[in-house]
Amino acid sequence: MKKIYKIINSKNKKQLVCLTAYSKPFAKILDKYCDIILVGDSLATAMYGMKDTHNVSIEMMIRHAISVKSNTTQALCVVDMPKNSYKNIQQAKKNAKFIFKKTKCDAVKVECDGKNYDIIKSIVDIGIPVMGHIGFTPQHFSKFKVQGILVKDHYKLLDQAEKNQKAGVFSIVLECVNTPTAKAITKLLKIPTIGIGASSHCDGQILVTDDMLGLSGFYPRFVKKFANLNNIIEIGIKKYKKAVLNKKFPSKKNTF
Ligand code: KIV
Repeated sequence: MKKIYKIINSKNKKQLVCLTAYSKPFAKILDKYCDIILVGDSLATAMYGMKDTHNVSIEMMIRHAISVKSNTTQALCVVDMPKNSYKNIQQAKKNAKFIFKKTKCDAVKVECDGKNYDIIKSIVDIGIPVMGHIGFTPQHFSKFKVQGILVKDHYKLLDQAEKNQKAGVFSIVLECVNTPTAKAITKLLKIPTIGIGASSHCDGQILVTDDMLGLSGFYPRFVKKFANLNNIIEIGIKKYKKAVLNKKFPSKKNTF
């Protein structure tokens, strides 16, 4: 809980640095630099090559979350509740408890469908911290669209943000929300907003690590490529192939 309060108290003091991780090597590096590491259900597309996040199972989330959490010491570790794992209060509580117990994570993330506030509250009420998620929520949409542009959608998102806060979330992801709406929500809420494609007015930022490192091949407008790992990996693989074909590897140094 200390880590959760630290995140809440960061509002208006410092920007929150957040990224996704699905495995030990990334968790170990991210832990040195991030306030929050999210084991996102984006692993479906980024890691497993699925077309969307809709068929991720609890078992997949748990497997990756154990790997991440057991290699994280200082960052807050949040695990996504996959689609269809929180369709009603009873199921949501059961699955949130299962994920929390198995992974020892610090919190779960629940995508808001504009109605599921009682479900969010029921998870908070059993002592499991919840991160909210509004705007473009990939579990509920299939076609990418910026949210909040029409006046009615702007107010709908403000209402959703407030209702998430009332349900007890400790922070909220704003995904692909237009700048004026993200700014208004950040001003309205007491809890931190974490933007992905939602402007620099949010209290923190998150990206899918595989995207920002140039590993996933998915580069929408809101992703900045901070490195090009695809190129670096390809250079290494080409060198290996050449060395094997020329019998330069393994050398004496690599042999017994
Ligand atoms: O699944 C995920 O990685 C996410 C982030 C994009 C916020 O939900």
